[in-house]
Amino acid sequence: MRTEQPKMIYLKDYQAPEYLIDETHLTFELHDDHTLVHAQLVMRRNPACGAGLPPLVLDGQQLELLNVSLDDAELAAADYTLTDSHLTVQPKAAAFTLDTSVRIHPETNTALEGLYKSSGMFCTQCEAEGFRKITYYLDRPDVMSKFTTTVSADQHAYPVLLSNGNPIASGPDEDGRHWATWEDPFMKPAYLFALVAGDLWCVEDKFTTMSEREVTLRIYVEPENIDKCQHAMTSLKKSMRWDEETYGREYDLDIFMIVAVNDFNMGAMENKGLNIFNSSAVLARAETATDAAHQRVEAIVAHEYFHNWSGNRVTCRDWFQLSLKEGFTVYRDSGFSADMNSATVKRIQDVAYLRTHQFAEDAGPMAHAVRPDSFIEISNFYTLTVYEKGSEVVGMIHTLLGAEGFRKGSDLYFERHDGQAVTCDDFIKAMEDANGADLSQFKRWYSQAGTPRLAVSESYDAAAKTYSLTFRQSCPATPDKVEKLPFVIPVALGLLDANGQDIPLRLQGEAAAAGTSRVISVTEAEQTFTFVDVAAQPLPSLLRGFSAPVKLSFPYSRDQLMFLMQHDSDGFNRWDAGQQLSVAVLQELIAQHQAGRPLVLDQRLVKALASVLGNAQLDQAMVAEMLSLPSEAYLTEISEVADVDAIHAAREFARQQLADSLFDALWQRYQANRAISRGTEYVAEAEHFARRALQNIALSYLMLSGKPEVVAATLEQFDAADNMTERLTALAVLVNSDFSAERAKALEVFAENFKDNPLVMDQWFSVQAGSTMPGGLARVQALMEHPAFNFKNPNKVRALIGAFAQQNLINFHAADGSGYRFLADLVIRLNALNPQIASRQLSPLTRWRKYDGARQALMKGELERILASGELSSDVYEVVSKSLA
Ligand code: TRP
Ligand code: ZN
Repeated sequence: MRTEQPKMIYLKDYQAPEYLIDETHLTFELHDDHTLVHAQLVMRRNPACGAGLPPLVLDGQQLELLNVSLDDAELAAADYTLTDSHLTVQPKAAAFTLDTSVRIHPETNTALEGLYKSSGMFCTQCEAEGFRKITYYLDRPDVMSKFTTTVSADQHAYPVLLSNGNPIASGPDEDGRHWATWEDPFMKPAYLFALVAGDLWCVEDKFTTMSEREVTLRIYVEPENIDKCQHAMTSLKKSMRWDEETYGREYDLDIFMIVAVNDFNMGAMENKGLNIFNSSAVLARAETATDAAHQRVEAIVAHEYFHNWSGNRVTCRDWFQLSLKEGFTVYRDSGFSADMNSATVKRIQDVAYLRTHQFAEDAGPMAHAVRPDSFIEISNFYTLTVYEKGSEVVGMIHTLLGAEGFRKGSDLYFERHDGQAVTCDDFIKAMEDANGADLSQFKRWYSQAGTPRLAVSESYDAAAKTYSLTFRQSCPATPDKVEKLPFVIPVALGLLDANGQDIPLRLQGEAAAAGTSRVISVTEAEQTFTFVDVAAQPLPSLLRGFSAPVKLSFPYSRDQLMFLMQHDSDGFNRWDAGQQLSVAVLQELIAQHQAGRPLVLDQRLVKALASVLGNAQLDQAMVAEMLSLPSEAYLTEISEVADVDAIHAAREFARQQLADSLFDALWQRYQANRAISRGTEYVAEAEHFARRALQNIALSYLMLSGKPEVVAATLEQFDAADNMTERLTALAVLVNSDFSAERAKALEVFAENFKDNPLVMDQWFSVQAGSTMPGGLARVQALMEHPAFNFKNPNKVRALIGAFAQQNLINFHAADGSGYRFLADLVIRLNALNPQIASRQLSPLTRWRKYDGARQALMKGELERILASGELSSDVYEVVSKSLA
C-alpha cells in the first residue's frame, strides 16, 4: 500500500542513472517465516553523467534493513537515509562495493510481486518494479548487471533451487538445508531476475541450435502435473526453430527452463533462462485443456521464448518504452501462431479481440498512446494498447517495408543494440536505416492515442474509365490530447469486377499495373487515389488483412457485403464482410427492439450463412468463425450508447432464427464431425481444431431448438468425449439451456471428476459465470462459497469474477446496479490483497460513458465509493481517479 501521495511520472523527465551496477551477487536464505537477502553490488559512477559524486538513491519497499556497508565498512544509522521507498547513501569514490542485508516475508506476500510463495514453493515476479521488494537496488531497466545468485533452503521441502543462467555449484548445509549457486553470464536489468525453490519434477528435452549447440530444455511442475507438459515442450522446440528460421535468432545459454506456478498475476514472464509461467499457460493435455487452451499455451511459450531477443538481449531504456519489447514480441508470436495454424483464422481472432477490447480501451478514460508519456503505476500499462495495438504498429512497418525490408531492419536492430537498453525511436531508426526509409510521420502511432477513423467514398467515371477512392481520416480526442495529426495508414486493397475477380491495379501516373492487391499509404487528412483502366464500376475490398488498426467505413449495401463474402480473394475480408453484414442486421434488430416493434431478421443473413455452411471447400475453422455473430461486447463498443437489453435481445433473436432456419445443415455438419471425433484420437493441430470448432458452434446453435435428439447428442458428447474441448462445450450448452435437471447433473458430475484439478475447475467456474440465464449474480455469489474457489488465486478471480463482469453483460449490467455494487465490493477487498488484480478487475466500471444515464450514475457511484474506501494502492487509485476525471 502506498503511503506517499501517488505521483505522476513523465517520459520527458527521463535521466540516465547516476550510478551503474557492474556485478550483483545475491544470497537468499529461505525460511518458513522469513527470508534473508544479502546483496553485494559492485558499483561505479556512470561515466555518461557529470563529475562529482551525487547521493546514491536505491529503490526498496517493504524491506527490513539489517545491515548496510560501503566498501566493507558498516554504516551507522546517521550515514544513510531510509524512507519506505528509498535508501540513500553517500559514495566516497567513483567505484565502490555496497553490501546490504534485509529481511523479507514472502510467506505473507499476497500481491504476488517480488518474492512470494505459491502452493508451497518460492518464486519471484520482478517485472516491472518488483525487484525493489527483494533488495535495495537501482530498479530500472537501463541499469544492467551481471548476476550471481546463491539460494539456500530446506533440502526436503525445497529440493529444487533455481535462478537465471547456469548452475555453477551446489552442496549440503547443516540442519538439513542445502544450497545452489547460479551465474548468468548476460548483463540484465533486475526485472529479469528470477528465483524458484520447491518440490518440483521436470520433463527434459534437448534442442540443437542452428550453430549446432546443444541446449537442455526443462519444464518444472508440481509432481501431479508431470503428464501435462508435453504440449508446452513441443511448442518450445517449434518456437526455437521458428525464431532461427524467421528472424535468424539463436538461443544463447546451455539451459532453458520453464517453471509453472499456480498463483500468478499474468500469463507468464520471460526471466533470462528461467521463464516463470502461470500454470494455465503451460499445462495442457486433451482431457483437461480445450483447443483454445492448447493454442494459448503454444502462443505464450513462444512469446516468452521470443523475449530472449526482443526484451532481454535488447531491453527497454525505461518503462515508457514497454511496447518496444511487448508490441514487437506479440507481433513475433502472432506470426509464429499464424505459421503453426491457419494464418487467416489467427488474424480473424486477433482482429476481433483488438476491435472489441483494445478499441474500447482506446475510447475510454485510460486511453494512452502505444508509448505513453506519463503514468502513476506502470503495472496499469501492461495493456491491450501496449501489447496488441503495439503489435499492429510493428505489423504496419512490416506492411510498409515488405518482408525482406522488415527482416533487414530487425537484423540491424538486434545487431546494433545487443546488450543495450533502448527506446522505440531506436527500433524505428534501425528500420529506417536498413531500408533508407523515412518513418518520421509514421511514428505518430507511438505518440497519439485513440483509434483513427477512416471514411472512404468512391466515384467512378465511366467515360474516362477511372475509379477514385477518397479517404478521410480523423481521430477522436483522448484524455491526453484533443487535436491529432494525420497518421500514416497503410491500406491494403483490391478492386473486384462483376464476376468477383480482382482487377489489375494501376494508379494514375503509373506506367503499368502493379498487381491486383496492393498497399496504398494514406498520409493526409483527406486524400484521393485514382485508378485508371477500370472498365466497369468495381467493388472495393478495403483494408485487406486488417492492414491498419482503424475504424474504416464504406457505404456498402448488404448485397455488396454478401458479394464480398463469396468472392473476395482475401480470406480475412470475406470474414469481415460477413461481420459487417451481421452488424447491419443486428443494429436493425436493436432499433426494432428499442421502438417496441416486433423483431424481423433480414433473411439475407440467413442466406449468406447457409451458403457458407453449405460450402464443403471452406476451411471448417473459417466456417466456424463466419457463423459466430459479433459479440455483445463488440456491439457495445460500436454503439454510441449501448443498450444492454436490446443488444442481448437482438443477438439472441438472431441466433434463434438462424438455428431454426439452418437446423438441417447444422445438424448434418455436427453429426459428421462428432462421428470423426468419436473415431479419432485427440490431436492438437489446426485441422482438428477446425473440425471441433465447427462441431461445437453448430451444437450451440442446435441446442436452441430444444429438440430431444440434440439434447441427447449433447449428453452423449458430454459423457463420451475424450477431450475437454468437446466436454466443456457440451457443458456450456447445457448451462445456457432450459434443461435444468440435465444442467445440474452435468455440473455435478464435472465437478466431482475434476475437483482436484484447479485449472479445470477454473473452466467450471467460468462457464457458470458466463451463463446469461437470469440470476447470474446470485449464482456467482454462491460459487464464491464453493470449496474450490480461492480469492487469493488470480486465476480463480478471473475465472469467476472476471468472466461475470466482462463476458456476462446482461447480468453484470442489471439495471438495479447489483452487479456494479458486487464488483466494487470485490475491488475494495482485492485492493488490500493484490493491487494488480484489483485494478484489472475494475476495468468494466471504467466504461461507464457507454451506458444510459441511470447506469452511468450507478457505475460512477461505485467508482466514488471505491475512491472513498480508505487507503488505495497506486494501481487502483490511478484507474479510479482517471475514470472519474
Ligand atoms: N513481460 C510479461 C510478458 O511477457 C508480462 C508480465 C508477466 C507482467 N508478469 C507480470 C507484467 C507482472 C506486470 C506484472 O508479457
Ligand atoms: Zn511479453
